Amino acid sequence: MMTPLHPERVEWRAECASTNTLLREQAEAGAPAGKALVADRQTAGRGRHGRVWQSSPKESLTFSVLFRGKGIALSGLSLAVGLALLRALEKQGAQNLSLKWPNDLLCRKNGTDAKLAGILIECAGDAVIIGIGLNLEAPDLPEQTTAGLFDCLETLPERPALLAAIIHELDSIWVDFVARGFAPLRADWQARHVWQGKFVRLMEDKRVLAEGICRGVDDNGALCLVTNEGEQTFWAGDLSLRAGDA
Ligand code: BTN
Repeated sequence: MMTPLHPERVEWRAECASTNTLLREQAEAGAPAGKALVADRQTAGRGRHGRVWQSSPKESLTFSVLFRGKGIALSGLSLAVGLALLRALEKQGAQNLSLKWPNDLLCRKNGTDAKLAGILIECAGDAVIIGIGLNLEAPDLPEQTTAGLFDCLETLPERPALLAAIIHELDSIWVDFVARGFAPLRADWQARHVWQGKFVRLMEDKRVLAEGICRGVDDNGALCLVTNEGEQTFWAGDLSLRAGDA
């Protein structure tokens, strides 16, 4: 049985601009490691590459957690966090989940792998702010196939219980990550990588960076593709299945 989250650890707000932004400010003002900040609604929620991240009380669980550590090499952390999120949701009974490099959680829905959650990690000094946006209901977005936890879990736990389950896995993976980095988690991550061994395309700002067979990731979490130029590693970009291969 999992220990419930200590209430002092969690600040639950009806609204804020962005839990990542606010928790970063709180971290700079001395907030303790382990603090979690949840918002029912974000008015300026941020995704990767400056995208907007929408959230609302019935449709999402939106929060950030503060960790601290001096001199920790953070490469691969976003992949480790994705794995922790997947493990937490599977322990709640969620099915058909997978991970997409670098930090998306997907759910198989109507024959496609749809985005269920996103992760945004930001650092300030020794503070590491891990932001997670988890869809409970699939948002209607023009350029993305989305899923909600309702699509992969019959009975949804209350949001505080869901939060506690996720933070429990985050705490545990943080300890492992600080001690040994991403390398020991690599095999588990790759086993859940949605397009492992498939022909994929890596895009940045509507530009194709590379195409090739996805070999997975290296010990630091960089993406490994076998392209026409041989095996190459990448640190950034948006991955998709080559058109027609879905
Ligand atoms: C992505 O683009 O996939 C990452 C989305 C991360 C969204 C979360 S919601 C909680 C935290 N606060 C933010 O402003 N962003 C992150």
